[in-house]
Amino acid sequence: MKTGRIIVALDFSEVSNALSLVKQLSPDSCALKVGKELFLCGGPRLVEDLANKGYRVFLDLKFHDIPNTVSKACINASRMGVWMLNVHALGGLEMLKAARDAIPKDRPDSPLLLAVTILTSMDDSDLEEIGIEKKIPYMVKKLSSFAKASGFDGVVCSAREAGQIAHDYGNSLIRVTPGIRLDGDSKDEQKRVMTPTEAVRNGASYLVMGRSITQSRNPMAIIDKINTDLLAVDNC
Ligand code: C5P
Repeated sequence: MKTGRIIVALDFSEVSNALSLVKQLSPDSCALKVGKELFLCGGPRLVEDLANKGYRVFLDLKFHDIPNTVSKACINASRMGVWMLNVHALGGLEMLKAARDAIPKDRPDSPLLLAVTILTSMDDSDLEEIGIEKKIPYMVKKLSSFAKASGFDGVVCSAREAGQIAHDYGNSLIRVTPGIRLDGDSKDEQKRVMTPTEAVRNGASYLVMGRSITQSRNPMAIIDKINTDLLAVDNC
C-alpha cells in the first residue's frame, strides 16, 4: 500500500536521469516530487506518466502570483492527476482562498493543497535582508494560520517548526518537511535540517528528500532503511 512518508525529490534537469532513478524505486515505498527543474523539461506528460506508473506525485511548483492566475494554474495542475500541489503562503490570504476555491476540498480527485511557509533554505538573517523583521517561528505560525483559515490540507515547513503546527492544528493540517538529511550528509544550502526520525518525532507527516537519496549509490536501500526506522518511531 502507498502509505510511506518519504517523498523523493526528482531534482533532475533531464527526464532520462529522472526515469532511470524512478526505475529503481517502487510506488509502495515512496512518493515522488516534481519541481520546477524537472517540470520545465518533462512537462505535464511526465507528471502524468509517473502517476500512471502508480506513484503519488507531489507537483512542487510553488505558485505565487495574483489570485486569478494562481487559481487557473491550480486547475490545470489538478488535471495532471497529482496527489499534492503547493502555493506560497506569502502570496497572502486572498491568493490562498483563490487556490482553495479552484480545488474543491470535497471532490475525491482533488489533490491535497499545501501552503509553503518559509523555505528551509532561509534563516532569520535572510528574512531580515528582505525586510521581514519577525523571526522564523513567528512567520511560520502566522502563515500556517493563513493555510488553516483558507481550508488548506497542509503546509510545507521545516521539521523544526512541524511540532508547533502539529500542536496547533493536529491532523487537520499535514506537515510536509524538506531539509531532511541523514547523519553525516552535507547540509548543502539547507539551513534548517533534521534527520528522518527526528523530523517524524517532531511532527512531520511526510519527508521530502532529494540529494540524500538521489545522489546515493543505492537509493532503494536508503529508502527501505528509513521506512524501517520510521515504522519503529510510529510504533512507539
Ligand atoms: O536535496 P534536498 O533534500 O535539499 O531537496 C529538497 C527539495 O525540497 C528540493 O526539491 C526543494 O525545491 C524542495 N523544497 C525545499 N524547501 C521548501 C520547499 C521545497 O527545500 N520549503
